[in-house]
Amino acid sequence: MSLHPETSAITAGRPDAAPDTPLNPPIVLSSTYHAGGPVGYGRYGNESWSALEVAISELEGGKTLSFSSGMAAVSAVFSILPIGAPVVASNQGYSGVMGLLNQLHSMGRLEVRFVEITNTDEVIAAMKGAALVWLESPTNPCLDVADLQTLITAAKKLGIGVAVDNTFATPLVQKPLAMGADIVMHSVTKFLAGHSDVVLGSLSTNDEALYKRLEESRRLNGSIPGPFEAWLAVRGIRSFPIRFRAAESNAKDLAVRLSNHSKITKVRYPGFGAVISFEVDGTADDAQKVCESSRLITHATSLGGIESLWERRRRWAGESPSVPEQLIRLSVGCEHVDDLWSDIQLALTVL
Ligand SMILES: Cc1ncc(COP(=O)(O)O)c(C=O)c1O
Repeated sequence: MSLHPETSAITAGRPDAAPDTPLNPPIVLSSTYHAGGPVGYGRYGNESWSALEVAISELEGGKTLSFSSGMAAVSAVFSILPIGAPVVASNQGYSGVMGLLNQLHSMGRLEVRFVEITNTDEVIAAMKGAALVWLESPTNPCLDVADLQTLITAAKKLGIGVAVDNTFATPLVQKPLAMGADIVMHSVTKFLAGHSDVVLGSLSTNDEALYKRLEESRRLNGSIPGPFEAWLAVRGIRSFPIRFRAAESNAKDLAVRLSNHSKITKVRYPGFGAVISFEVDGTADDAQKVCESSRLITHATSLGGIESLWERRRRWAGESPSVPEQLIRLSVGCEHVDDLWSDIQLALTVL
């Protein structure tokens, strides 16, 4: 029976039902297993990871591998590419991925072609002879949206691998595997786990051979999640659809209110999801002061948690210089929208 995500988030990854067996998957704290079974060793498998992997697979499709962080998952994808392989990627995506790609390019490990992801023709032109297209849509933090379906179809026609970072949109908005992508990646740290208490990542794929190569990469590089973190993420996924929809509803409302505020010069909101980026009428210092003046919204990096956070992205040296200095990224949580708006209005009075 094919279930709606609201249902499968609640039912997936539970142990088989039998009298007195627990409803929830256990936290399996063991590096060592009795010989003769399919797991063998604590770096090769763990029941707590399996529960998380089943739950993400139910949402995204395919078969899932969990990793110690989103960046560990990203690194696993790049690790299986041949030396010097051409990779097409957004010139304005998550700074960690861009930093990693720049490093791999300067080492000669990969040949990275950075493109304007909203320019579909430019991206398709850059695909010629590439091994992989790395897509992030919407992008972090500028919330640019790529024409995913056109790009995936074009890449597949050329026989190029496609990986999509689906952290911001989540499977409630788009399902890249169903669109033909080879891999979908998550920073599980964000919306899926949703409580700002774990750092985790995942990769899902429909391709069994690719799954095996990525699993081998995880096994050999040791980029495995902790069982407790995996368990917390499963617990978070139970309420992910409800949290995401509540936060999205708040974000839609706040995007309109921000657009009508006299101290805001630009609002970036793709019309879905729970992250808004906006520019204040002022300098970098002014934007910084706004972020430091909130009482309810936490001044911190990260996103996708049940609580609202904001920060000026250019406070990080690694952020792309094309991101405006006065841009604030707001991760909208599940608080009451009027309380969030009062806090934003109050913080903006420093301008
Ligand atoms: C879009 C995106 N992808 C990947 C990552 C990396 O994930 P992690 O911090 O879990 O390693 C992040 C982290 O902020 C992100 O925002």
